[in-house]
Amino acid sequence: MAETPERPDGVDITKPSAARIYDYVLGGSANFAVDREFADRALERFPGARLVATANRSFLRRAVQFCLQQGVRQFLDIGSGIPTVGNVHEVAQRIDPDATVVYVDYEPVAIAHSRQLLESNPKATAVLADAREPEALLDNADLRAHLDFDQPVAVLMVALLHFVPDADDPAGLVRSYRDVLAPGSLLVISHGTTDGVPEVAALADQYKHSANPATMRSREQVTAMMDGFEILPPGVVFSAAWQPDDEPGEVRPEQSGAYAVVGRRP
Ligand SMILES: C[S@@+](CC[C@H](N)C(=O)[O-])C[C@H]1O[C@@H](n2cnc3c(N)ncnc32)[C@H](O)[C@@H]1O
Repeated sequence: MAETPERPDGVDITKPSAARIYDYVLGGSANFAVDREFADRALERFPGARLVATANRSFLRRAVQFCLQQGVRQFLDIGSGIPTVGNVHEVAQRIDPDATVVYVDYEPVAIAHSRQLLESNPKATAVLADAREPEALLDNADLRAHLDFDQPVAVLMVALLHFVPDADDPAGLVRSYRDVLAPGSLLVISHGTTDGVPEVAALADQYKHSANPATMRSREQVTAMMDGFEILPPGVVFSAAWQPDDEPGEVRPEQSGAYAVVGRRP
């Protein structure tokens, strides 16, 4: 059983949080009893949830590698979560030690753990901010000190936007970030869906009782979020089908429970 971590300031442990549930499902220990109970119930109702998380994490790794192959060396990872295997700075700096990474999350546990991990990494930082407030987020001094928006930036919104309800206009939010990006910048999205795995609906239903209610969306809705970006091959596909490679742990595309896409700002 996971040990209970020290509780950083501002953490609400009365409600399960998406960051901590995801951490538990991936085998991490930065979670509390309330998160573990939630995750255990979810895994009972839908054992495939672990595959969904693994397929997503694997997509994230491949997408970061792809961004570097495209010559993009700056990463803004919004909704970055609690550090776990294959963090963006690790994947990126293994390929290019000078790659810069800014992690953003609104869950204090995620940022506390990220800062601890990045203490001796001058090329990466972690910022506590809400994705639904793009102006404030993009104005953050620490973020600005690490990223040069005159150069291409890869914006990662991986397993983030299903936590943004329709009322907060997720496609509109993406446009706010898009508009500050230099040509050649990349947008990486993965987004929960019930397509292929109808049981994901039960998962979304359960998330109503967490701090992060979730809205699953269709392929068409995810495609609409890419407005103003040239969608790169293979298009909007199940996350496990996005440029698969040979590393073990891959799942069948239709088990992904999420769509994935990468686009380029012309
Ligand atoms: C499922 S985790 C994904 C972590 C990582 N991006 C990945 O795909 O491996 C979703 C993360 O989004 C964060 N999140 C949800 N809504 C957010 C918001 N409005 N602003 C910032 N972070 C948010 C949660 O706290 C959580 O850490």
